Amino acid sequence: MGQAAAPLEAMVAGGGRLPRHVAIIMDGNGRWAKKRLLPRMAGHRKGIEAAKAVVRAAGEFGLEVLTLYAFSTENWSRPAEEVGELMGLLRHFIRADVAELAENGVQLRVIGDYRALAPDLVKLIDEAVEKTASNTKTTLVIALNYGSQAEITQAVRDLASDAAEGRIDPVAITAEHVTARLETSDWPAPDLLIRTSGEQRLSNFLLWQAAYAELLFVDTLWPDFGRAELKAALDQYARRERRFGGL
Ligand code: IPE
Ligand code: IPE
Ligand code: MG
Repeated sequence: MGQAAAPLEAMVAGGGRLPRHVAIIMDGNGRWAKKRLLPRMAGHRKGIEAAKAVVRAAGEFGLEVLTLYAFSTENWSRPAEEVGELMGLLRHFIRADVAELAENGVQLRVIGDYRALAPDLVKLIDEAVEKTASNTKTTLVIALNYGSQAEITQAVRDLASDAAEGRIDPVAITAEHVTARLETSDWPAPDLLIRTSGEQRLSNFLLWQAAYAELLFVDTLWPDFGRAELKAALDQYARRERRFGGL
């Protein structure tokens, strides 16, 4: 723990670059459990452990921002029992684990409509966000009840009402205006977006923000993802050539 960015950059093949912002679609908890003939919940529990290890490693490697997709707007369509268990795990994580992360300089932020969750959970989240607000090492962004289309729709609605009320000329609206109205406006766009478990889709995650992200799909199931897997992903990233439309 506590290593700065420099040692990793030196370790990375070819002295490549370190992403500022890594976003992860944590997928495969259910399959991890199924392979072991365990209930899906066991996979989710192990998934929390993986998330904690990855947050620690992100701090160690010097990432500025780590965004983890924890619950999508579409995940409400799962059986009520599983949704309840996921909320229980989240409650436990905020209560028990955020303090440790905070001691390690992690700032907690949330994107998504988390205010639609149970009132006690909303309160716990607000308290944790407030408690960690002055931490500057790594920002952990948890996407909770998050859906990219809902987020973009809200931004469009805000711009439309600004236009309707004469605060902005519709022809003057730029991509930057949209970016600034997204919930992620405090952070740089993700440089690297990882999805575990072999699925190759974005599932309504950061659709706008990932316009130029490097995408990495790995077969590892989320509960098996940890420091070594994050390191391997950062090595891969360092070997990629980003062009942004240029030559
Ligand atoms: C990811 O694992 C966790 C959440 C979406 C909350 P899954 O629960 O989607 O696991 P699989 O895809 O069924 O294996
Ligand atoms: C995406 O995983 C959402 C999260 C990781 C929170 P899902 O397992 O819900 O995605 P689909 O249904 O396979 O696209
Ligand atoms: Mg899944």
